[in-house]
Amino acid sequence: MKIKDKLKELTAQKVGLLATNYYNLETLHGVLKAAQATSSPLILQLTQSSIDYMGLEAAVALGREGLKQFHVEGWIHLDHGGSVELVQRCLDAGFDSVMIDGSELPFEENVKLTQEVVKRAVSYGAHVEAELGYVAKLGQSHLHDGFTQPAEAKRFVEETGVDALAISIGTAHGFYKEKPKLQIDLLQAIAQEVQERATLVLHGSSGVPDDQLIAAINHGICKINLATEIKNIFMKTLQNILAQNDEIDLRKVFPKATNAVVELVKQKLTIVNN
Ligand code: 13P
Ligand code: ZN
Repeated sequence: MKIKDKLKELTAQKVGLLATNYYNLETLHGVLKAAQATSSPLILQLTQSSIDYMGLEAAVALGREGLKQFHVEGWIHLDHGGSVELVQRCLDAGFDSVMIDGSELPFEENVKLTQEVVKRAVSYGAHVEAELGYVAKLGQSHLHDGFTQPAEAKRFVEETGVDALAISIGTAHGFYKEKPKLQIDLLQAIAQEVQERATLVLHGSSGVPDDQLIAAINHGICKINLATEIKNIFMKTLQNILAQNDEIDLRKVFPKATNAVVELVKQKLTIVNN
């Protein structure tokens, strides 16, 4: 099924679709094993940093092969695309979906940039996500302004024809200093204005309490982006093992860290699948 159809179907059912970032073979296998174990669909996301780290073609090939290997229904998505050039490279490399992040631009410029990406993606049959409002980037969890305004969201979606919209309703990237408080009333108002045309996306889901994730899904969010908790559990587990063990066969050490990712993502999938 196309990602767009899957997101529409799940939105109607008030079920979430988890979008996990991967950084290497081990984190990829961790998220895929969790999806396989729970028979869940999954979006595999790559940021520019991960693309630079693995190489574009290799990163996509790993993701595609992994989906086959673990029999998971899934899609490859560019997360936080920062330029039309990067989006174009990803479209050429066969991504199912791309995000163009113009959230730091003035409204009209964000519209223009997103329109350009939508135009390019059409001929590839690719799905496009944009962001309106500002979800604080890593290390900015103290920023609480920049919430998405419902009327602007409506205009943005109409003018750009974008398939999915990342909105700012109280989340931030990375871990939180204070417990987040999602603006569910605002989400409902945005959903009322745009849900007919675009899927709603929650960025910054690491550290969001389960009950708030469920409330967000029940009130219009479908795509749930998760990254920091994956990186964190993988590295913390690895650090603990290495502190007590001088094993140099990485094939014996890495699987333990991968298993920690599996357990984390299985638990998130249970919440998101509701
Ligand atoms: P976290 O790193 O806070 O989970 O956010 C993930 C994200 O939004 C990826 O786009
Ligand atoms: Zn994000």
